[in-house]
Amino acid sequence: MMDDDWTSASAGATTLTVTVWRGGADGKYQEFRVPRRESQTVLDVVTYIQRHVDPTLAYRFACRVGMCGSCAMTVNGAPRWTCRAHVDAVAVAGRLEIGPLANLPVVRDLVADMREFFDKWARAKGRFKPSATRDDDFAKVSPQEHKRMEADAGIECIGCGVCYAACDIVKWNRDYLGPAALNRAWTLANDVRDAGSVERLIAVSGDAGCHSCHTLGSCAELCPKKLSPTRSIAGLKRATLAVALGRKEAGE
Ligand code: SF4
Ligand code: SF4
Ligand code: FES
Repeated sequence: MMDDDWTSASAGATTLTVTVWRGGADGKYQEFRVPRRESQTVLDVVTYIQRHVDPTLAYRFACRVGMCGSCAMTVNGAPRWTCRAHVDAVAVAGRLEIGPLANLPVVRDLVADMREFFDKWARAKGRFKPSATRDDDFAKVSPQEHKRMEADAGIECIGCGVCYAACDIVKWNRDYLGPAALNRAWTLANDVRDAGSVERLIAVSGDAGCHSCHTLGSCAELCPKKLSPTRSIAGLKRATLAVALGRKEAGE
């Protein structure tokens, strides 16, 4: 359907006015009109534009059910996972403004370049380092153990980048590891099967690490999985301090 035909067919009270970021960092917002639907998500709106109005619109998604973490965008000023963000909950007076995630370079339109986000997971040593070999028996970790419960509290992260886009410290200091990488480091610091804890705590304790967090909590407020990176970072602060004191006592 041509843009003009579609626009005239859908004009009226049952439409949303949607402005969408187009281009790279020097791009601008473009306005579209999208038919209102029951139980419509922001991702449905973006998909409608791409399929019915402008097939050149670039955006990213995969699972559509809140599992893959690939669909996050800025919606009316706040970062959100768009496949589970209902228009009813986020539209203001029938309007949506949709842009790429903040605090990351723009590739094009709604696609942010996630490389620095995941590079920071690597810098925070967010990879499991096994302490056992294939010849060892399975580790038995009780669900009631304190460390297991600490790890469980942060383990459901889907890597969506919402917290990273919400964090003012990331905006001011692009070297800061950010809430997701630090949350991941804390889950591993509590994994009793992991052998990389000391080097990980050292990796997250520098100037761009956990001690830069101002505990403002935007990450926890907006995390779609209801995780609290703020709480994980507080745990890392305690643990890194303990390592530092231990080193001092050991004369290092
Ligand atoms: S609590 Fe820390 S990591 Fe979370 S948004 Fe605030 S400064 Fe960033
Ligand atoms: S901590 Fe939450 S907001 Fe941050 S990447 Fe993980 S799921 Fe997304
Ligand atoms: S498309 Fe997978 S989380 Fe939204």
